Amino acid sequence: MAAPSRIGGRALAELLPDLRTMPGPVYSALARAITSLVLDGRVVTETRLPSERELAGSLGLSRATVTAAYDQLRTDGFLASRTGSGSFVTVPAGAEPRPSFARWQLRPEDGADVIDLSCGALPAPPELLEATVAAAAPRLAPYLLGDGYEPAGLPVLREAVAARFTARGIATRPDQVLITNGSLHGLDLLLRLLLGPGDRVLTELPSYPGALDAVRSNGGRLVPVPMAAEGGWHVEQLQATLRQTSPRLAYLTPDFHNPTGALMPADQRREVLRTARQTGTTVVVDESFVDLGFGVHERASAELDPGVITLGSLSKPVWGGLRIGWLRASTDLVHRLAALRTSIDMGGAVLDQLVAALLFEQVDAIASARIAQLVPQRDALVAALRAELPEWRFTVPQGGLSLWAELPAPLSTPLCLLAAQAGVVLVPGSRFGVDGTLERFLRLPYALPGERLTEAVRRLAAVWRQLDGSGLAARQLVVA
Ligand SMILES: Cc1ncc(COP(=O)(O)O)c(C=O)c1O
Repeated sequence: MAAPSRIGGRALAELLPDLRTMPGPVYSALARAITSLVLDGRVVTETRLPSERELAGSLGLSRATVTAAYDQLRTDGFLASRTGSGSFVTVPAGAEPRPSFARWQLRPEDGADVIDLSCGALPAPPELLEATVAAAAPRLAPYLLGDGYEPAGLPVLREAVAARFTARGIATRPDQVLITNGSLHGLDLLLRLLLGPGDRVLTELPSYPGALDAVRSNGGRLVPVPMAAEGGWHVEQLQATLRQTSPRLAYLTPDFHNPTGALMPADQRREVLRTARQTGTTVVVDESFVDLGFGVHERASAELDPGVITLGSLSKPVWGGLRIGWLRASTDLVHRLAALRTSIDMGGAVLDQLVAALLFEQVDAIASARIAQLVPQRDALVAALRAELPEWRFTVPQGGLSLWAELPAPLSTPLCLLAAQAGVVLVPGSRFGVDGTLERFLRLPYALPGERLTEAVRRLAAVWRQLDGSGLAARQLVVA
């Protein structure tokens, strides 16, 4: 469950549509509009709504109208009142996200013509990996003489990672680098070390589900801040939430955010980092996608503020099956994390780290080849969506591996269930949110060849028309 924050009357009024243009009585239009904001993740659950009097003042409505709307929200399960502390946005019981909503549960019969769009990751470049593994094997000999345990990572790989940071303008020594089994492993180690029970962790909404799960399973309380409706970050809202909740940590993905693909401009990074410093919040920046920008990039967060902890990985530019990631932090923190790690996995595999060290020598060339492959795939997806589903809205991503589409109705889960039967496996938008919100959104990765993406969109459009024809889409705001 998310940690509480509040929204004022004026801020809520700005998010609402013109109620007079909506059908039915004004109180019911207001209740439906607030429900829609909750389901879309624009007002996050556990947010305290303004008092009836305050909202009535901001909207120029009678207090009785707002009271009736709040009563309606309570009846529908979207508002919970706590004596003495106000009314909080919630979602009806049963709408909790299910981390087990895993892709294998959705797979249609084996052997069917399935297009798997559930994962934002690429297959390995096979020749390159085979050749690199072969080149790494003879380098193993000297390591065989030792015990093979290196909790902070092999020095040769720590040096390669540090050199890459330094080349990007972030002076880094190898002792500031911890080698991990992927960036998610790095995040989990950090959460284990730094989070106390019930500590708040600010995240973007939507955000990478693995990170949200990691915060939950380490006892953290999520403080999700909605991304801006027009794309990118809502910096003032990020700053206001930092000030209101003083979270212990903030987990951000400013470099080709998963799932939206957005890139945060340097001036916005500076603003957010400055406020986080004031509120004593440690900022963890996930750079998993940093090498996959389509001709654009930004100054690194750790260059703007050396206090930032950076997570990185070879999973997205090279291959997830390598399970090689890293964490850049102060030497002291790296020591503490390495010590903690000895109670978990003792360190990464030596041979894999030798392979990774060799891959580092050519990571720019590998990333360029990935980008050359991804741009036409993204374009094919965009073209297919515009042709087949023109009513779906999205911002064309500038990098990363996925596009975040806004559907005309909050039907992501039923759409994904029907799509699975039609041979397209997808993860509903709510998986990228908290408390079952974001049902109006769908992540569409473009990691497959263009013709498969075009076919996937054709199937999706047929399923969408089926849903639309069933009248479900027209009943946008009814949740049972
Ligand atoms: C933002 C983000 N961070 C981390 C990960 C996990 O990556 P890794 O394989 O490096 O653990 C993913 C995987 O999709 C991701 O999207």
